[in-house]
Amino acid sequence: MLRHLMAHRSVRAYRPDPLPEGVLEGAMAAGQSASTSSNLQVWSVVAVEDAERRALLSELAGGQAHIRQAPLFLVWLVDLSRLARLGAERSHASEGLDYLETFLVGVVDAALAAQNAAAFFEAQGLGIVYIGGLRNHPEWVARELGLPDRCMAVFGMCVGHPDTARPAAIKPRLPQAVVLHRERYDVAGEDAAIGRYDGIDEAFQREQGLAPRAWSDAMVRRVAGPQSLNGRDRLREALGALGFALR
Ligand SMILES: Cc1cc2nc3c(=O)[nH]c(=O)nc-3n(C[C@H](O)[C@H](O)[C@H](O)COP(=O)(O)O)c2cc1C
Repeated sequence: MLRHLMAHRSVRAYRPDPLPEGVLEGAMAAGQSASTSSNLQVWSVVAVEDAERRALLSELAGGQAHIRQAPLFLVWLVDLSRLARLGAERSHASEGLDYLETFLVGVVDAALAAQNAAAFFEAQGLGIVYIGGLRNHPEWVARELGLPDRCMAVFGMCVGHPDTARPAAIKPRLPQAVVLHRERYDVAGEDAAIGRYDGIDEAFQREQGLAPRAWSDAMVRRVAGPQSLNGRDRLREALGALGFALR
């Protein structure tokens, strides 16, 4: 498992072959085994195999071809609807669901479960890539998947057999000292370490046949303004439309 964790790379080229029997259920068992805040379990998944539906979701996510290619697309949901239904059945208040805190609990729960499932898939030799592009059009995605109120797609995940003719490489990460602070937050040495990483990342980009650029410049550009959020700058409005009060 450790070897597989360290060998992670996002896979964006898949063979069309279906997944082995039982692998989805195994990954879900791994996902459900993850910690979940207060055991609320405020997440769900929609597993999409239908090619037409995958094609539509691919377009909604900004035309990402790997969603059409991979035989399985998992949509990971923050799902407060189940507790809303339980409250309604018992004529019990469920106002706690209206708070940003509970939404965040659902997002964290979904991410922990998804990463357990990702590790499971990768340990089976399968590849995955997360799809945040699914938040480009949250209401549209919700309609297509028949999501109830207070249920939103946090991200998608392509799952399939990696196409060995177009292998993905392990992407270097920031030096550990940049992300690991001991006892107290400390930025001494950050600039120098990031400068070193810019060089490493640039070499990686070159190796991959991608336009070489400094990681730090690219990331600063990525957060420069709402125009770089692919429509996700209106997420608060979309969440309101999906029934999240976010008080
Ligand atoms: C929540 C989340 C959303 C992501 N969304 C996308 C996406 O929409 N399309 C894509 O190709 N990769 C997406 N990725 C993959 C990242 O780009 C990738 O993990 C990152 O560049 C590091 O590369 P690696 O996973 O190969 O190590 C996403 C990753 C995460 C965690």
